[in-house]
Order: sequence, then structure tokens, then C-alpha cells
Amino acid sequence: MFEVARTDGIANVEFLNHVLDGLTAQHKALNPKYFYDEQGSYIFDQICDLKEYYPYQAELSLLPKIAAELNVILQSEQSVVEFGAGAVKKIQPLLSLIKSIKNFTAIDISGEHLRSACATLQAEFPNIDIRAVEADFCKPVELKSEVKENRLGFFPGSTIGNFTPMEARRFLSNAKQSLGANSKFLIGVDTKKSPIQLHHAYNDAQGVTAQFNKNVLERINRELDCDIDVAKFEHYAFFNVAKGCIEMHLVSLVEQSIDIDGVEIKFDVGESIHTESSYKYSPKQFEALASDAGWKVEKTWLADGDMFSAFLLSC
Ligand SMILES: C[S@@+](CC[C@H](N)C(=O)[O-])C[C@H]1O[C@@H](n2cnc3c(N)ncnc32)[C@H](O)[C@@H]1O
Repeated sequence: MFEVARTDGIANVEFLNHVLDGLTAQHKALNPKYFYDEQGSYIFDQICDLKEYYPYQAELSLLPKIAAELNVILQSEQSVVEFGAGAVKKIQPLLSLIKSIKNFTAIDISGEHLRSACATLQAEFPNIDIRAVEADFCKPVELKSEVKENRLGFFPGSTIGNFTPMEARRFLSNAKQSLGANSKFLIGVDTKKSPIQLHHAYNDAQGVTAQFNKNVLERINRELDCDIDVAKFEHYAFFNVAKGCIEMHLVSLVEQSIDIDGVEIKFDVGESIHTESSYKYSPKQFEALASDAGWKVEKTWLADGDMFSAFLLSC
């Protein structure tokens, strides 16, 4: 049955401390997890419908084939745990085609959006026990006792690219511990490709990605009772060739000060807040990262034109 678990709602005080730490640092930055309040999750779903944002469709195109292969490999009863499940769209080919899946735990930081998506999913898959867990996947997440072995971890959307390579290694290693012995991990990872194509994916013509980026300032206004003039910041995303990642920033268009909980934060013209990185990996690079974290790469899939990759890891 559909069940709601709330293990780690983000308290405003945690958000306030993070925002103050990030905006008073020498290079201003905010953690991308704060994009995802209800409004941010809604805008992200719109990004997934954009023709420029190729990762969504490219990964979706791989999943029925992957699920059909996993249906052969995974014969004993399976529990699936998805990290950053969002609108729970990507799990659907897996739940439809892998007959051994008995329960599904969806973890996401954006609680309302997740609960609503999981309620719809439960109606579509009445024979699978579906659980929505509002939690930060960077912290240990306690999995329910019946979800204890033969776990299949699932981490689509190239969300792993939002970590630096060092953080990604740490995440993979922690996930290995929490998934436990005999587990497997299916991960979607964006590939290296033309910087121009990458540029368009994060600078769409309709400005939806800009709206998504700026939502973090709107969220600060909503939740921390601030009055930042969001129009005085510009969305700026570019591919950093040396680092191999897209960097997303909010750049101040004027010299200005903002007040957050009585703390004055000054911006020069052109000063930026770094809001997200999105690392792209060649299959070789990702395989090395996964094996450094203690996983064995069992299988690799590539979407048409090598636009996106997926990896099946095992312990
Ligand atoms: C790039 S979106 C991917 C969504 C979906 N998995 C997909 O593939 O379309 C990242 C998702 O991870 C969630 N997320 C980001 N950081 C998180 C964190 N630290 N803990 C839990 N969820 C997080 C977001 O709320 C969002 O749903």
C-alpha cells in the first residue's frame, strides 16, 4: 500500500544557515538541492519537455530495453530504491517489465511533489508496495526492514553529475553501504558531447531553465521572508571545458545589497552565485569512478548518438 514517510524535512533554519554560509563565502554559491521546492520541481518537469533538454528523452529511450534485460537477470524478489525520484516517470518501464519487483522506495527532497507523484504511481501499480520518503540522499536514509536484500538502486537523470567527481565517489560508496550485500545499482549519466549542444540544453529559447535557476532566489524570498529583486540577476550557464561540466550561475546585473535575516550581502556588478555544476562523463571515466567507489560495472548502455549512458553496477 502507498505509505508516506518523512525522515528529513528541510527546516527553514537549515535553509537559512546554508544560504548565509553560501552567500557570505568568497565565491558565492548555493547547493543545487535547494532548487527543488514544490515550485522548482514543477519547473524541472517543464524542462524535461523542452526539445533542447536532450538528457530526459535520451535516457527514457534506453529504459525499456534495459528493463527487458534486467527482467532476465533479476529473478529473485527485488526491492527498488530510487534516489532523487522526482516525478517518478523513469521508474515506470522498470515496474512494468521487471516481474520480480515487489516494492519501490522513492527518495526525494521535494516532499509534496514526490508524495503526489507516488500516489498516482501506486494507483497504476496496485501490486507493488510503493513508499515515498522525503529525505536528503546525501545523508543516511533508513530503509524499511522488509527492503533489506536483493535491492536494486536506481539513480537516473544524471543527478550524479551535480556532485563533483570526489563527491560522486563518496555518494556511490555510501549508496553501496545503504543498499547492502548483493545489491545492484542502475545509474543514468550524461555523456561528453559538443559544447554548443550542451550550451543549448541549459540555455533554452523559452527561458525555462533561467526560471528554474532564479527560483532559488524566489524560494529565499518565500521561505526566509526576504525581498531580493530577482530581475537584478541574470541566468548564466556555460560549459567549462577544463572541468568537463556545465556551470550554472546567477549574475548580479548591478551593484546591490540584499538583506537576509539582518545580514547585509553585497554584490558587485557581474558578481555571481554558483548554483549548479553538471559534470559529463565518458563511459571510461564513469567506469573508473564507480570502481574507485567499490562497484563492478556489469553492463553499459548508450543512447543513439552516444547522447546519454546508463550503467548497471554490482557489489
Ligand atoms: C535532475 S532531477 C532528476 C529527476 C528524475 N530522477 C529524472 O530523472 O527525471 C534531480 C532530482 O533529485 C532530487 N534531489 C536533488 N538533490 C537531492 C538531495 N540532496 N536529496 C534528495 N533528493 C534530491 C530533486 O528534487 C529532483 O527530483
